[in-house]
Amino acid sequence: MKNLFSPLQLRGLTLKNRIVLSPMQQYSANNGIPGNWHLVHLGSRAVGGAGLILTECTAIAPEAMCTTADTGIWSPQQIDSWRTITDFVHAQDAKIGVQLWHAGAKASRRHPNEGMLPLSLNEGGWKAFSASATELNGHQPEAMSIAQIDLVCEQFAQAAKNAIEAGFDTIEIHAAHGYLLHQFYSSLFNKRTDEYGGSFENRIRLTIRVTDAVRKSIPQEVPLLLRLSAIDYSDAPEAWNMDDTLRLAQILKSHGVDVITASGGGLVQVPASVSKAGYQLPLATSIKKATEIHVGAVGMINSAQQANDIITNDLADLAVMAREHLRNPYFAINAAIELQQTQMLPWQYKRGFMN
Ligand SMILES: Cc1cc2nc3c(=O)[nH]c(=O)nc-3n(C[C@H](O)[C@H](O)[C@H](O)COP(=O)(O)O)c2cc1C
Repeated sequence: MKNLFSPLQLRGLTLKNRIVLSPMQQYSANNGIPGNWHLVHLGSRAVGGAGLILTECTAIAPEAMCTTADTGIWSPQQIDSWRTITDFVHAQDAKIGVQLWHAGAKASRRHPNEGMLPLSLNEGGWKAFSASATELNGHQPEAMSIAQIDLVCEQFAQAAKNAIEAGFDTIEIHAAHGYLLHQFYSSLFNKRTDEYGGSFENRIRLTIRVTDAVRKSIPQEVPLLLRLSAIDYSDAPEAWNMDDTLRLAQILKSHGVDVITASGGGLVQVPASVSKAGYQLPLATSIKKATEIHVGAVGMINSAQQANDIITNDLADLAVMAREHLRNPYFAINAAIELQQTQMLPWQYKRGFMN
């Protein structure tokens, strides 16, 4: 019977177990270049035994960034620095994917240590653009022209090529959390009246175009992941809902997406009351059952037993874990000990785990 430590085959990629480091922004880069912090942050979770390491959301172009401390993947220096990290992760027998991202209306903000307020042009900020000129948490973007939409597709394609050059094993398209792609597919934000707004088909058009552009830019054997906000966590009648997600998931599968991670929210404040153990697992399970695509479950998966139950009960294919990995970088090693699975200790650390 499969469990948390069963390998998972995705196209040409074999993950040694089902534990994934969820993307977490570190706001610690310079000029989009990942540095020592990123090497240690991502590398130590690989040492800690996670089968798949996902980078934080990584900008496809300078104007796609949220803050100047975000990571990017458009320049040769960025590619070189990412390669140092992918090499280290591979040496731990782990795999690594980059989360490709455009902030859209959430672009040009101050560092979180300075409150993440909008950064104006005369303070060194840059123009934010999105599906429509909809105000979002104090941010006022400009509506994108068709030429700008075309450019974003090209930038995703180039970023995907750069990711392969940097040694990444997979790519996750960030289509969640109120960023650009989500700003297009949810009517909470998208007020366009052209072929990118209005109907479901129009609103998902950019996500599909980006998926196609990325899929075409990477080898056939490289799996493609995509993170969705499966629900908007809003009662508004125009909010994105689970029926929309199931329709979109089926289409994404037919366009070559191999794994969907079901997250939620990002356009409106997620009520604190929903944040309970495994709160987004039912979203992932619904997608899995309806479409038979592989799914990642994310959201308050905090213990070995909980993560293992998700896999053994076939509720999801991957346990995607963020904050628990901050508290416990060696989550996977400790989970293997707790669940009496083969320990995948780095040889350098074996003496620390002997009785
Ligand atoms: C510090 C921090 C940074 C995050 N940055 C990202 C990100 O870059 N991309 C993303 O998709 N989600 C991001 N998230 C969301 C997490 O990946 C995850 O979906 C969320 O924290 C719920 O999972 P958890 O309960 O295991 O923490 C971030 C979360 C945290 C705590």
